[in-house]
Amino acid sequence: MEIVIVADYEKVSMLAAQIISEELKKRPNLVLGLATGETPLGTYRELTRLHREEGLDFSGVTTFNLDEYVGFSLDHPSSYNYFMWDTLFNHINVNPSRVNIPKGDASHLDTYCSQYEEKIKQSGGIDIQLLGIGSDGHIAFNEPGSSLASRTRVTALDRQTIADNSRFFSKEEDVPRFAITMGVGTILEAKRILLIASGKKKAGVCAQFIEGPITSQITATALQLHPAVTVVLDVEASSKLKRQDFYRWAMKAREEQFGR
Ligand code: PGA
Repeated sequence: MEIVIVADYEKVSMLAAQIISEELKKRPNLVLGLATGETPLGTYRELTRLHREEGLDFSGVTTFNLDEYVGFSLDHPSSYNYFMWDTLFNHINVNPSRVNIPKGDASHLDTYCSQYEEKIKQSGGIDIQLLGIGSDGHIAFNEPGSSLASRTRVTALDRQTIADNSRFFSKEEDVPRFAITMGVGTILEAKRILLIASGKKKAGVCAQFIEGPITSQITATALQLHPAVTVVLDVEASSKLKRQDFYRWAMKAREEQFGR
């Protein structure tokens, strides 16, 4: 894994948007995997700015989101569908017919999940997948104990996740108990993975997933098996890493040798 440590949340967001925009410039028909939550907000703001001010063109892009709450319709204000349109898609020139977000109110959920997988395959696979990390080490909604070979499916949310996500709802009881999520196995098939994390509250879990043993109890540790992962952290989120000196040294060496 390439570990990049930057000063703060703003820098995490700028760098993540820059990495995505470089991929998009190389490949106008990019298949882009997207995430929800608080962490990607700055990245989406910067991608919007790049579109508005520098003409970054999303017209050929296909997107796939990681997850959605079960039972929520597309226009539910706490749905991830609503979140994505509100924070990104309404502000860029993405083609709505190429936007894919799991449908939380699909009538046959298991069939729907297999079709979602199939659609990813038919698109040629995800070129770059943006990820956040949950405080319990989840990627997408792959909670502790999820198989590291899991595929897109319906899963129960961990109590920790329900408590963490209650800040997006008026009360904790309103947070759904189930979600559709891409599996760990699905995520590992993306050609490149970009995980972003910020703040002290993520420091412990970042140290565990980057430097700890691979375990289904912290599903982000599966990323250690992927050949092309970039992790962008701010100083606070990196504060419990044991090999910080090495990551900083390697960053400096890369900059001197390759310009980044
Ligand atoms: P957050 O969520 O960005 O709101 O911290 C991350 C996640 O649960 O994946």
